[in-house]
Amino acid sequence: MRSEKQARNLGPIGVFDSGYGGLTILRELAKALPGHDFAYLGDNARSPYGSRSFETIRRYTLQAVTRLFALGCPLVVLACNTASARALRTLQRRDLPEIAPDRRVLGILRPTTEEAGRLSRTGHVGILGTEGTVRSESYPIEIGEFFPEVRVSQQACPLWVPFVENGETSGEAVEWFVRRDVERLMAQDPEIDAVILACTHYPLLMDLIEKALPEGVKAVSQGELVAKKLVDYLKRHPEIDERLSKTGSRRFYTTEQPEFFDKRGGIFFGQPVHSEHVEIEGAPNS
Ligand code: DGL
Repeated sequence: MRSEKQARNLGPIGVFDSGYGGLTILRELAKALPGHDFAYLGDNARSPYGSRSFETIRRYTLQAVTRLFALGCPLVVLACNTASARALRTLQRRDLPEIAPDRRVLGILRPTTEEAGRLSRTGHVGILGTEGTVRSESYPIEIGEFFPEVRVSQQACPLWVPFVENGETSGEAVEWFVRRDVERLMAQDPEIDAVILACTHYPLLMDLIEKALPEGVKAVSQGELVAKKLVDYLKRHPEIDERLSKTGSRRFYTTEQPEFFDKRGGIFFGQPVHSEHVEIEGAPNS
């Protein structure tokens, strides 16, 4: 039987993103694990992260993860490609052993790259992501480890996240930029037949992306892939699953004003959200 101390230490799965994008991942995680509790943290006051330096992304991500630990999360998922590409390794290897050796942090790159080769028939895969994700080369490197025969081309789309964060997911301006960046990707390799949306904000632009892609090229968002891998992970790690609380609750935290978050967050999550403001070390007060 669980001791009283263990019962007291149960906590939700933490899900982190620079802003709203991770809600598209949380939506799938919550579907796959309906009984588990989740705590979402959006660092909206400092978003977007995509064009920031390596060191800044690392520092912000560590601060956010530390905040989720303080909220009682035994496990945190970085539902952000930029943070997964730039901060996860250092967090796992350098920071965690010092600050919280008994907790776990997972990213969303690996669940995606493990499947990447199976998404394409031609063996030519495209990646659309933020500048940070693309510059890290994490996708080509990791896909190359699992599927050395697959050819990977990447295109950074630095303006897409600001459009999405500002609720601009349709209209001529955003459509023009989506078309331009998709065309730049396809010009690199016309044999691409599967394009991975390697940024959690991009599913909100799915209609425009599909419209811009040539016929027969499919766009793949990560939510379901990540959810499936998390379910597998918890099966393989019952010692972590045991420490997770399971009352079916979803809590939302933002470093911005909750009114802003609630207004936009519902669109990403697919149902209304009610958030609370949190301060994290280093973030501007709002
Ligand atoms: N949505 C995040 C990602 O998946 C980050 C976007 C940003 O902050 O630039 O990369």
